[in-house]
Amino acid sequence: MHSLIIFASGAGSNAAAIIAYFKQNGKAKVSLIVSNKADAGVLDIAKKEEIPFLIIDRQTLHETMLIEQLTDHKPSLIVLAGFMWKVPAAIVHAFPGKIINIHPALLPGYGGKGMYGHHVHHAVVAAGERESGITIHYVNEVYDDGNIILQARCHVDENDSPDELASRIHKLEHFYYPRTIEFLIE
Ligand code: GAR
Repeated sequence: MHSLIIFASGAGSNAAAIIAYFKQNGKAKVSLIVSNKADAGVLDIAKKEEIPFLIIDRQTLHETMLIEQLTDHKPSLIVLAGFMWKVPAAIVHAFPGKIINIHPALLPGYGGKGMYGHHVHHAVVAAGERESGITIHYVNEVYDDGNIILQARCHVDENDSPDELASRIHKLEHFYYPRTIEFLIE
């Protein structure tokens, strides 16, 4: 059974989709959820699903003890699902080729520091783009920069609000992220 660790800061709809997908097919198990926000919705999901969780701050993110805790779970993949902090180089180096992220736009567009969650959809709509999508990529030391594994596209309507675009993007994420994880661990 493959072990997955999820890092998330927000509501956790992607975490929920991943948990549900692998509960159903039994190929992997989310063994730990790490969050930098004590009141993040993803922690309610962890509690409901009885998945161990860890709340970290900026200091613990950089401690070698965190790397040891992550290693203990022998993760096949560390999955960033709406994790809003940069992953320290020490963690990237401790898990080479094993950390992936999902970004709610077509990188390299609309990526980089400050471009996360609804900020991305606001920027895409404000720029009058007619297309957006998702990017699943490996994590390296630079924000939103690692090798791309998969992109999926959707249209942006002229009258779309950022929230409407966000919900279209979430649907793509919930479909493709679990399946991409499955493909990578097989
Ligand atoms: C997702 O749309 C994800 O792509 C985005 O945050 C959202 C989290 O939603 N991630 C980033 O912007 C990373 N730069 P969720 O908490 O409902 O899964």
